[in-house]
Amino acid sequence: MLKIGHRGASGVAPENSKAAFLKAIEFGLDMVELDIQLTKDNNLIVFHDYDLKRITGLDRKVGEMTLAELKKLDIGSCFSKEFSDERILTLAEVIDLLRGKLKINIEIKINQQKSDVIIESLFDILEEQEYEDDVIISSFDHRILKVIKRKKPSLKTAVLIGAIVMEPIRLIQEASADGIHPHYLTISKELVEELKDYGYFINTWTVNSKEEVDRLVEIGVDGIMSDYPMLITKAVKR
Ligand code: G3P
Ligand code: CA
Repeated sequence: MLKIGHRGASGVAPENSKAAFLKAIEFGLDMVELDIQLTKDNNLIVFHDYDLKRITGLDRKVGEMTLAELKKLDIGSCFSKEFSDERILTLAEVIDLLRGKLKINIEIKINQQKSDVIIESLFDILEEQEYEDDVIISSFDHRILKVIKRKKPSLKTAVLIGAIVMEPIRLIQEASADGIHPHYLTISKELVEELKDYGYFINTWTVNSKEEVDRLVEIGVDGIMSDYPMLITKAVKR
């Protein structure tokens, strides 16, 4: 079962930061989940929110700023003063950091205006970095997943869903995906069994309680994302 650090190990260091990814390596995880967005000058960066307010205090949108401008911002102090040197990372920088150590679940944040640019930039980075075999691409935008699969069938993809859906198999098939990433509260033993019968994987998010980790390990999900991934490490050791 994949032990996946959500936004790195974001319970113990600032989300999507170098410190959070290094913690994920330290914890001996298999994978990290991270969020990607496009800057104004079309660089793929690792950042969750569409605006910068919560993390940096700045009242601007990510997509309105260049990489050089974004690089000046402190993304660590909102977590704790000791992380004030943390800066926004590009996807390529994170891959450099994790190479040979962790796989990556790349969540593409929705951007209907620039989805073509996102896809081409993503392909270029994964190819240059030779990381195509070590990623799962996920998104709540299932259309972008379908396009990615059509252009590059070898890339592994997963449909993200946040609520209970009546026909999960149909959603996966419509996006030509390889698996599904549902919210943990929507997962039952029956769902896991159905997905396995069809040969699809199921990784779930964001599980931060020991009881839920234990339940999900018991019903046989393929991967668990947590802000506190040491919970998963402990559960799978028992
Ligand atoms: O990829 C799973 C999860 O990260 C999706 O929700 O808002 O944390 O990006 P969010
Ligand atoms: Ca995410």
